[in-house]
Amino acid sequence: MNYEEAVELLKKHNQEQLLNFYNELNDSQKESLLEQISNINFELMQSLYENLYVKTLEENYIDPIENAVIKDKMSAEDKNRYSEIGASAIKNGELAVCSMAGGQGTRLGHEGPKGTFVVDIEPAKAIFEILTDKLKAAYKKYGVYINWYIMTSEANNDETVKFFEDNNYFEYSKEHIKFFKQGELPLLDFDGKIVLQEKGKIFRAADGNGGIFEALCRNNIIQDMQQKNIKYLCIGNVDNILINQVDSLLIGMMKEKNYNLASKSVPKKSATERVGVFGKINGQPAVIEYSDIDPEMARKTKEDGTLVFSESHFGCNIFSRELLEKIGNKKLPYHVARKKNMYVGANEEMLASIEANTYKFEAFIFDGFMLADDILIFQVKREEEFAPIKNKEGEDSPQTAKELYMNYVSNNNHD
Ligand code: UTP
Repeated sequence: MNYEEAVELLKKHNQEQLLNFYNELNDSQKESLLEQISNINFELMQSLYENLYVKTLEENYIDPIENAVIKDKMSAEDKNRYSEIGASAIKNGELAVCSMAGGQGTRLGHEGPKGTFVVDIEPAKAIFEILTDKLKAAYKKYGVYINWYIMTSEANNDETVKFFEDNNYFEYSKEHIKFFKQGELPLLDFDGKIVLQEKGKIFRAADGNGGIFEALCRNNIIQDMQQKNIKYLCIGNVDNILINQVDSLLIGMMKEKNYNLASKSVPKKSATERVGVFGKINGQPAVIEYSDIDPEMARKTKEDGTLVFSESHFGCNIFSRELLEKIGNKKLPYHVARKKNMYVGANEEMLASIEANTYKFEAFIFDGFMLADDILIFQVKREEEFAPIKNKEGEDSPQTAKELYMNYVSNNNHD
């Protein structure tokens, strides 16, 4: 795209500000900016801006999930049978795991990718090392190296890869680890204008963890899975140090019952806990965000006093390869977040703000659930599988995660 073409395109979409500083750039910066402009999907950005305030859920019909399988209530016989089926699938190489590590981790405020954050367990370990330990334990148990796909972002990919290289992949098999980058979308100011991070650089940010489906297809990960005959991918949040992604019981149950999607849940702590809960939206499996569930619905209880919408989603989901491909070929909706960012203003000053000043658009992994015919919800115990690191202090912080982790390892072994 040349300069004149860019001017025309930007005029058409009311985004001429992107060339405000063009004349100050050197030749390679100019070329790069034109290329960045040619890669923007302006129609998409416009429709995202126009639909900012549309609340879709209100028009929809929300039902609770009735049939979650509760691990604690399963018979020992069923547990053993499914675990055996799952174990042979794992030994057969049918399971791979994926860590979603492309997030910004703004609440934690750690410099660098979240997976490089060192947790003060004994001995202290980075999150990535803790996750690697689980795969090393699986190797001991099943005699196979489980393939590990790690989703990064443009912003943190190089640092993530370097961290693994510098640490010799924590002695895991290097050939079984693959990094892939998720997509990005430009940020908008509150008038719908795309903003510049630098005079020659459009401000883009990762497109949310729901970008994983498109990224798995674009980066040929699905193809890689096919070549290796991997049938299931357990996708998990990078920041849960008790995550159990090599779960023979759950894989066995999925296989036996022919599910393409299984999702782990923990019971909601209270009606007001800020977590997404499983439900059905217009009959389709879904997760309803805490901000979208009305308080009355959140408080509703069953006869036994437990919450009707109780199964919380915590980011540990197993997809069949076919389902991943199906979702990857569809467009998921984007959700808007209002974020504080520093960008180049019209008068070339850097605009910082103590208030949110930009719109960021993110897809969510659980919106992909709507494309599954059915979902196996598997309720596990919080203290066994869920120790998230989200905030610097207080709830879901390194301190709470450390305590949960130390308690768990002193009492149990996964799987
Ligand atoms: P969160 O929504 O908790 O976001 O991500 P975050 O980036 O870790 O933290 P905050 O909200 O900025 O404080 C849940 C999981 O999804 C991943 C995260 O890395 C985490 O494992 N994620 C999130 C991505 O991989 N990409 C994204 O664009 C967003």
